[in-house]
Parts: sequence; structure tokens; C-alpha cells
Amino acid sequence: MNEQEKKNAALKAVTYIKEGQIIGLGTGSTAYFAIQSVGEMVKEGLTIKAIPTSEETKKMAAALAIPLADINEVTAIDITIDGADEFDSKLQLIKGGGGALLREKIVASITQQQIIIADSSKQVEKLGAFKVPVEVIPFASNAVARKLSALNGRAVLRNRNGQVYLTDQHNYILDVDFGLIDDPAALAKELDHITGVVEHGLFIDLASMVICGKGNVVTIYQR
Ligand code: A5P
Repeated sequence: MNEQEKKNAALKAVTYIKEGQIIGLGTGSTAYFAIQSVGEMVKEGLTIKAIPTSEETKKMAAALAIPLADINEVTAIDITIDGADEFDSKLQLIKGGGGALLREKIVASITQQQIIIADSSKQVEKLGAFKVPVEVIPFASNAVARKLSALNGRAVLRNRNGQVYLTDQHNYILDVDFGLIDDPAALAKELDHITGVVEHGLFIDLASMVICGKGNVVTIYQR
């Protein structure tokens, strides 16, 4: 992972923001650079309202005095800038390495222009080297793990500092190794139908654009 590539992608992404828009703010170490930059733009007079995709991002935005909006009080989000763990040539994604996939996907689902920013390590031919995060209701975690196993997915319950990791919505995450995924859209549908799964990190047809930093260059991939 390359911090300068992340920053270059983020600085390009924020140029798409226009006065008066509702902006979704992503989560993670790449989105961090975009949030910092939006903070500076607000300080210089840009009028926007932001919807954070996690408690972590909410704190960061508040510290930068970025005005926040309540997602339940908007009908749509103009632009969201978020990171990804992997993206492929069809702009399908794996997200959720940072645990924020549920709110990220909700925000993406009502966003008109979903801009994904990434360093070059995130670009893959086939998704799946990164384990697919699956957010589950704690009560269902073992039952879901068995269903995933029937789909040839090896699920490991996410831990942090020796404790079971809890998402912002107080759910668990199973990190699931499916190997390289031939058909991410088909797998996403299977995961959608498992009872006890709240959401998963396969983001299918949600990205409008991926801005990827590589060395000093940024490449824009568009749907
Ligand atoms: C957060 O849950 C994730 O979906 C992030 O967007 C993703 O993990 C990318 O994070 P980094 O930018 O830190 O690699």
C-alpha cells in the first residue's frame, strides 16, 4: 500500500465535488485523505453537507468542522468518495476491511456518483485474494459460517485485540476466503439470501468510477 498514491487519488476525487452538494464520506486510510481535503475546502468556503459512513469518519468530519447531514433526512447523496480493498476491471469491489461495509453500502445505494479511490495494490484481475467481509447478527454467526462453508467459503470470525470485533451496528464480521471469485455478482446473490447475514463486502455495480493512484499518475476507470 502506498500513501502517496492514496493521497493523489483522493485529491483528484475531491475535484468532482460541487457547491451545495450532499457528500458521502467513506471510511479507511484512503478515504482519510479525501476527508482531510474536504475539511480544507469547507474551511475555504465550500458549502456542502456530509454523511459519514462510520463512527470513525463522523468523528474525523466533526473535528474538521465539516457540516453533517442525517441520512434519514436526505433522499439522495450526490457524490460519495470511499476506498476499497480490491477492484476489478468491471469496477466490482470488495470492501469492509475496515469493518464499515454496512453503512458504506447503504450510502452507496443512494449515491448518484460513487467514486472509489485506491492505490495500485487494490487493482486485481479477479476479486478474492482479499477475504470477503460478511457482517452477521451475532446470534447467527455459527449458522451463517456453516452456510458459507457449503458455498466453499472458509469463514473466520474477526477479532481485534483478543476480543470479537463489533461493528458500528454491534454485529460480528466473518472474513470469508472463497479463493478467487469467478462470478462476484452470482456469489453476492447467494450471500444476500443467507438468513442472519446483514450485509457483505461484495459491492456489485455500485461504483461509478475508480480513481487509482500508481506512482505519480492517477488513472480514472469509468463505468
Ligand atoms: C472500510 O470498511 C472499508 O470498506 C474501506 O473502504 C476499505 O477497507 C479500504 O480501506 P483502506 O483505504 O484503509 O485500504
